[in-house]
Amino acid sequence: MRYLPESGDALGVRCPARLGQAMSYSLMAGGKRLRPVLCLLAAEACGGDVEAALPAACALEMVHTYSLIHDDLPAMDDDDLRRGRPTCHKAFDEATAILAGDGLLTLAFEVLARHVRPAEAAAGCVRVLAEAAGPEGMVAGQMADLEAEGRDDATLEALEAIHRRKTGALLRGSLRMGGIIAGADETCLRALDSYGHAVGLAFQIIDDLLDVQGDEAKLGKRVNKDSQLGKWTYPGLLGIEGSRRRARQLADEAALALVPLGPRGERLRALALDLLERDR
Ligand code: IPE
Ligand code: IPE
Ligand code: MG
Ligand code: MG
Ligand code: MG
Repeated sequence: MRYLPESGDALGVRCPARLGQAMSYSLMAGGKRLRPVLCLLAAEACGGDVEAALPAACALEMVHTYSLIHDDLPAMDDDDLRRGRPTCHKAFDEATAILAGDGLLTLAFEVLARHVRPAEAAAGCVRVLAEAAGPEGMVAGQMADLEAEGRDDATLEALEAIHRRKTGALLRGSLRMGGIIAGADETCLRALDSYGHAVGLAFQIIDDLLDVQGDEAKLGKRVNKDSQLGKWTYPGLLGIEGSRRRARQLADEAALALVPLGPRGERLRALALDLLERDR
């Protein structure tokens, strides 16, 4: 993992020490690394070289970590615990946390441009990541999530649209990037896309459930925050059992989407089912 040195205060990047420390602090705090795993498994499922997908996997984790740093800021979800540690703005300060997020976001695109080969695959990944994370994807979802806060006119359709963008888009993009690097054909890319569409929503439904039912120590983040903030959530709309049922249905849809990949899709299929049982 030469793109993510385990130690070192600046990720091998020449930048002010405090900025590098804040970026490393959040990136190296752990976390499930789900987006990198999806990217690597997608490359594998399409018969590609998993090693070749490592830079893209790292870039995805950088973008995801930036989104968490900003999501935790006082102006957004105002959280003080993330990945079992004080949030970036608590450990450093708000301005540093904003800049650490900006730094990780931009560094991700540098990593893609420098390290993904061939150049057409790099350009493809840049486009997919920008679309997934940008103002039609994750950022749109985050905006809609904040705008919905405290409003009492929630509908399932509108909530689904929030979750598909704020969380689903990057998960879907992770799979597509793995496929692009593997040189996947259209059948393979379509299968990954349908899988990502289902898993992306299921993952955020479970996140909503864990906020209600999860254990703070295991999750490494605060619980019961969504109701405090007046967020629109699946348990809020469908109840606990209804949300579980919907997540299960989506995991089954995800598994079905992988049929065209044959046995090579097995690990992605297992992952979709495992995500239903996660407790962190
Ligand atoms: C948390 O993501 C934020 C969401 C998009 C739901 P993860 O649950 O993947 O967080 P980490 O990476 O494991 O910390
Ligand atoms: C965060 O969703 C989504 C992004 C960071 C893009 P949440 O606000 O539900 O994530 P947690 O619960 O704080 O991890
Ligand atoms: Mg949020
Ligand atoms: Mg949050
Ligand atoms: Mg949440």
